[in-house]
Amino acid sequence: MQILSVTGGAPLYGTVPIHGAKNSVLPILAAAVLCRSPCVLHNCPQIEDVDTALEILKCLGCRSERRGGSLFVDASGMYGCEIPVELAGKMRSSIVFLGPVLARRGKARLALPGGCPLGARPIDLHLMALRAMGAEVEMEGGHVCAKAQTLAPAKIALPFPSVGATENAMLAATGCTGCPEIWNAAREPEIVDLAGFLTACGAKIAGAGTGRVTVKGGQPLTGATYTILPDRIETATFLCACAACGGAVTLRQASAETCRPLIALLRESGCTVNERHDVLRISCAGRLKALERVTTGPYPGFPTDAQAPLMAALLRAEGRTEFVETIFENRLRHAEQLRKMGADICVDGRKAVVTGVERLNGAELLAEDLRGGAALVIAALSAEGKSSVSGVKHIKRGYDRLEENLKSLGADIKTVEIS
Ligand code: EPZ
Repeated sequence: MQILSVTGGAPLYGTVPIHGAKNSVLPILAAAVLCRSPCVLHNCPQIEDVDTALEILKCLGCRSERRGGSLFVDASGMYGCEIPVELAGKMRSSIVFLGPVLARRGKARLALPGGCPLGARPIDLHLMALRAMGAEVEMEGGHVCAKAQTLAPAKIALPFPSVGATENAMLAATGCTGCPEIWNAAREPEIVDLAGFLTACGAKIAGAGTGRVTVKGGQPLTGATYTILPDRIETATFLCACAACGGAVTLRQASAETCRPLIALLRESGCTVNERHDVLRISCAGRLKALERVTTGPYPGFPTDAQAPLMAALLRAEGRTEFVETIFENRLRHAEQLRKMGADICVDGRKAVVTGVERLNGAELLAEDLRGGAALVIAALSAEGKSSVSGVKHIKRGYDRLEENLKSLGADIKTVEIS
């Protein structure tokens, strides 16, 4: 088993590059099955969820090859329409293959998706969107089975702006004859990126990034060359690490525009954040000020994925910060681990109140999900003494070279194999 061994206390100084966004590249790899000729995707992170998506493509009969940060995907000879439990169960994003496989092949059979344990995470909105376009969708022994001779245009009104359901609806809609509309669509930057890729492949999409997305479907898509947008949550993680430890960190190839709510809160807490083109620079000295309340919400609200990293940054701030998690029912599990380090956190349902303490102490910590795991690493870097973080597999699913990048900033962190 691998653990991360972290000795905290050092401020962070230096520059790190931000990789392409995990939550963009995954739906874009699913979208590649719609293309009758090869695609080339640049700025792809080398993480386990991407490897899983490539395995899914292989099992559907698509070819793929990685060259550094670029992926070549050829779905011209795609023949499969089934994703088995060994692959689907590895990540939540496997569900986003449902719409495009159905659009391309007229049928799809997927085992239920896995992913971070953040609560129930149903897929009802995904299925509702496909049914609205005329697909027959059934559950059969832990599998979702969908079929449709043709997909018909519809007005799909999502009761909640689910990111994944919006993506699935957009992807299936490319196979519709006519012009489906998605109302109350998610507005996340990753939706805009998916629309950018589909447009490069010849799709006609309007309104991505607003609550109403229209797709003019029915045209076969061709492959395209596309560059994935920078990962705003990886960016958030490094910003919060510097806020927690002090120092000055420069992030290259970042997008400040997609990180507005976090940047505003970090400035309010006393950090200096400067932006220039695709470079973000944060510097912090002394104790941070607590924030009154941080409430997560759909974009452009404060991202749920940055809640745990920001909590880790504010554990030693002066005063009390209240965190309210509105997206997932069970996304405060890191609080229990952070308490082992001496953090003062009271959790009540979806609310956590953090009262800043003077110091944190190293402890044995268990990462139970991806961003919660990143928060433990941040807290360990800002604590006195040595910590160990197990459950590293969760962190590796979503961060490319996290350990190397933190080391390059002066952090004392290493992977240790233990039996
Ligand atoms: C995406 O998950 C991201 N994952 C998540 O990133 C992110 O936390 C989330 O969006 C919110 O921003 C990927 O893009 C791969 P949702 P997704 O559908 O699509 C409920 C990370 O750490 N819901 O917007 O699964 C759901 O239970 C992760 O990188 C339904 O009720 O999120 C949740 O409460 C984890 N029925 C809420 O909506 C459905 O059919 C938001 O989920 C679908 C969702």
